Amino acid sequence: MRFTRQSNSFAIILSYMMLPLKENDRPIVKKLLEAGCCARCVLRFCCLEVQSAYRKSYEDISRELCDFIRDAENKVAQVAGVPEQLTEDPPSKKIKLDTAKIDDQSEDESVLVPTVTDQGNAEPMDSDVCVVCLGVLQDFCDEAHATKISGVVKAENYQFDTMVLSVSLPAQLSVREHSCWLHIKKEVREKSMCLDKDDVIPVKEAFKWIMQGLVSKQLGGIPVVTKISRQTEQFEVGVGFTHPETDSDCHFLAGICPDCFRPTKNKQNVFTRMAVVKAIEKVSDEKFVKKFPCPPPRPASKCIAQDVQCLHVSVFVAGRYNKFSRTLPQTPWVIDGERRMESSVEELIAAPLLSSFRAEGFNFSSSGREDVDVRTLGNGRPFAVELQNPHRARFNKAEVRQLQEAINQSSDKIRVRDLQIVSRDAMGHMKEGEEDKTKSYSALIWTHKDISKDDLMFLEETKELKLAQKTPLRVLHRRPLAVRERVIHTMSTRFLDAHHFHLALRTQAGTYIKEFVHGDFGRTKPNLCDLLKTETDILELDVESVDVDWPPPIPE
Ligand SMILES: *[C@@H]1O[C@H](CO)[C@@H](O)[C@H](O)[C@H]1NC(C)=O
Ligand SMILES: *[C@@H]1O[C@H](CO)[C@@H](O)[C@H](O)[C@H]1NC(C)=O
Ligand SMILES: [Zn+2]
Repeated sequence: MRFTRQSNSFAIILSYMMLPLKENDRPIVKKLLEAGCCARCVLRFCCLEVQSAYRKSYEDISRELCDFIRDAENKVAQVAGVPEQLTEDPPSKKIKLDTAKIDDQSEDESVLVPTVTDQGNAEPMDSDVCVVCLGVLQDFCDEAHATKISGVVKAENYQFDTMVLSVSLPAQLSVREHSCWLHIKKEVREKSMCLDKDDVIPVKEAFKWIMQGLVSKQLGGIPVVTKISRQTEQFEVGVGFTHPETDSDCHFLAGICPDCFRPTKNKQNVFTRMAVVKAIEKVSDEKFVKKFPCPPPRPASKCIAQDVQCLHVSVFVAGRYNKFSRTLPQTPWVIDGERRMESSVEELIAAPLLSSFRAEGFNFSSSGREDVDVRTLGNGRPFAVELQNPHRARFNKAEVRQLQEAINQSSDKIRVRDLQIVSRDAMGHMKEGEEDKTKSYSALIWTHKDISKDDLMFLEETKELKLAQKTPLRVLHRRPLAVRERVIHTMSTRFLDAHHFHLALRTQAGTYIKEFVHGDFGRTKPNLCDLLKTETDILELDVESVDVDWPPPIPE
């Protein structure tokens, strides 16, 4: 819609309703347009909070802004009591945003600037690159860009109910925003309702107001929002922009606030948006305008849109596993870059999960771990798998059960029970109080000397046996040397023959059982050799139970 010039005050009111700007905004609008702000940045700096105003096509907003300025002339005429008919032949001096070439010494590059001219009619504003948003609100806020974003999301075949749209802007936008604010600060303070820079609508906000609806429409109406309360379902699509041409805009800040831009190891660029914002806060207005032009200078090119990034928040799957093999490590066993065992507990569990959740990676953790040659029997060991960037995140109970079955059937070396989707926080239960928990083991023991049933009796009577365990030799390469106190709560035995018996133990979690049996060259005291007064060794070890009551059991 375009305000057509009529001697009709009703039409004038209508035009005000199209863009809800106030009388006092006029000089500010004019000044912003002259400074090279795009139409949407003008609305932002007028602190206009009406979202629908930003959603109009760029051309419509431009046109309406021109009409708005032109109305000023009419208004003056009316206030001055000039008969209405005269407004059909408006006063001569009008704002026209025209394109004019400026010779910048290069042959094919020309800079387009708006100019105030004395003749001609109000025309749609030129499409020069905005001095503040660097084109983000001009060229990337339309159906075409929404199609590009939704196209990436569709191609990656994510399953989701709600999408979060996030925007990352070049840091220099903050510099330019500040420069523009200083440029109009005086007028704004005097005339407008918005009092502070904080009242200016951020570029990000305006971008989202426009794009969320457009992207949502392209995705068949799936809500596109700024934040999701149910964090476990968060699916975020990130749109980033860069503008190499003006990257150096930020550099003067380093001279003013060197502390704000300390290089760190994992940052290639010290001029992060956070650091730039912090530096701007510290700089006085006087200093800022001395070092950076106000209004900001006109760029030759618009922003470059980065690849659209999709990321679904991790999903956590927990359960308990049994391990029936004495040649299966818990995690891949790689020595000097060479793989020693063909598989591992975590890979066997994670593989079906990765493919079902269509996740990009995983992180496995468990309540303790067993050695490669130790079986885990009984109810199994609690574990949790973080599935990173899953393309599918929701599974009902029956589907989770099918997953469990798929894991069970994939190998006879492991089994899984109580499989369930849990929250990130719930995973903490697995690790908390781990040291205080009780674990039960059974071991096959060899003795050097002949033994009889009676020799074993006293082990059964030994309760709450305190051990001092120096870090075992076999783990010393990856654990610090320390002496740990552990308790063996109870032991029971089953005599097999003169050199063999079964030993069942209930111990504090973290007790090194093998070392208790063979003594680890006296590093564990007391040990089974001391107690039986003969050399002993451990031939087989099984974990019988891990008494961690998480995750909760799932009824079959
Ligand atoms: C894997 O999980 C553990 C704890 O569960 C955490 O400390 C670690 O940072 C995670 N690693 C990665 C790469 O996410
Ligand atoms: C998987 O194996 C465990 C342990 O044997 C069993 O408790 C569970 O019911 C099995 N689950 C399925 C779905 O096969
Ligand atoms: Zn702009």
